[in-house]
Amino acid sequence: MADEDKNSPLGNQPPAGKPADDVASPANPDNRIDLERQSADAEHAAKIAGEIPERTRPDAPVAPKMRRPARRKGLVQEVGSTGHEWDGITEYDNPMPRWWLWTFYATIVWAIGYMIAYPAIPLVSGATQGLLGTNYRKEVAAEIQRFDQANAGVQARLTEVALEEIPGDAELSNYAMNAGGAVFRTWCAQCHGSGAAGAAGYPNLLDNDWLWGGSLEEIHQTIRHGIRDPLDPDTHYSEMPRFGTDELLDRQQIAQVVDYVLSLSDLPHNAASAAAGAEVYADNCAACHMDDGTGDRDQGAPNLADAVWLYGSDRATVTRIVAEGPHGVMPAWASRLSEADIRAVTAYVHALGGGE
Ligand code: HEC
Ligand code: HEC
Repeated sequence: MADEDKNSPLGNQPPAGKPADDVASPANPDNRIDLERQSADAEHAAKIAGEIPERTRPDAPVAPKMRRPARRKGLVQEVGSTGHEWDGITEYDNPMPRWWLWTFYATIVWAIGYMIAYPAIPLVSGATQGLLGTNYRKEVAAEIQRFDQANAGVQARLTEVALEEIPGDAELSNYAMNAGGAVFRTWCAQCHGSGAAGAAGYPNLLDNDWLWGGSLEEIHQTIRHGIRDPLDPDTHYSEMPRFGTDELLDRQQIAQVVDYVLSLSDLPHNAASAAAGAEVYADNCAACHMDDGTGDRDQGAPNLADAVWLYGSDRATVTRIVAEGPHGVMPAWASRLSEADIRAVTAYVHALGGGE
């Protein structure tokens, strides 16, 4: 049997067990696949032999067949084209999937229902109110009022007690830390930093170095009336002269007094120049910054002998401050915040670490 197969004009037989179907054999002469393969082979051979000329390439791309089998009810249907074509790509005219269409209709129904139930359509002033009568503005206002009422008692007590009593009173200090922290983050953090560590020109409120004093009473006063706030008659006020701009001292004197100031806190300085600066200091600065440079809280004059600097400790900055005069301004808050809020933020600042 094997010998007979090899001699068969139709080539190999399948191994036993495989369907004889995909090979054209005398038993199955109509096997299409094999017949096609044979005719392709024959054509290829003819091409190589030069019997068939190369097919000329069409100069326009051949339009693709606009058909794709779509399965529906077991039948293969042809899908038409919309007639749109770009670069040889044609658009089928397939319908939307059912699930998509129904979801789409559902959103329309939902939207109409929503517009009826809730405020929706803008009118000249206001909007349609909706059947459910929802009003978020009113809800927020009611919510705020609810909180205010809940806090009214503690706020009233906060404004009545002596400031010194707040830290010792659990309820008041707890409220002050929360409300005061919120006030600080809203109104103070822009200048003093969200952690209250300050920046050049804006004092650090965490340390125990105070310009105007760090007791509850003093902090309260500072926050209520501000510093150099032109609109508040009770504001803290003092003005360091502009020694250079107003020609109160010459360049050399300024350089000398700057060396002296740097020497007060052991920063690098020129000793000879600092010795000359001591006299300039005694004549021009000691009235505010004190003989030993420790400053004066009644005038908001900073301590120049410590390591804490409001504006900076480098020679250029100190020279600029002495020549041009600093003029830090802190707004007064009495006109903007309630007394309860001011007291809360006072207790909050006092508790930050530097309170006295
Ligand atoms: C516009 C910027 C600005 C805002 C906002 C601001 N401050 Fe000040 N604050 C300053 C400046 C500047 C100084 C220092 C003024 C000076 O040079 O004497 C200061 C000083 C202070 C001091 C005195 C520090 C000391 O050493 O004596 C306290 C306390 C203080 N601020 C608390 C607050 C609180 C609380 C708020 C929020 C309610 C607030 N500040 C909002 C700019 C600001
Ligand atoms: C009338 C009082 C007054 C006199 C006089 C005065 N100062 Fe001041 N000085 C101040 C005040 C107030 C501040 C803080 C001002 C501010 O924060 O805006 C200050 C700030 C400074 C600072 C900035 C300190 C820091 O931490 O950054 C330096 C430096 C300084 N003074 C040096 C001098 C020298 C040097 C003289 C003398 C030549 C002098 N001051 C004279 C009141 C005075």
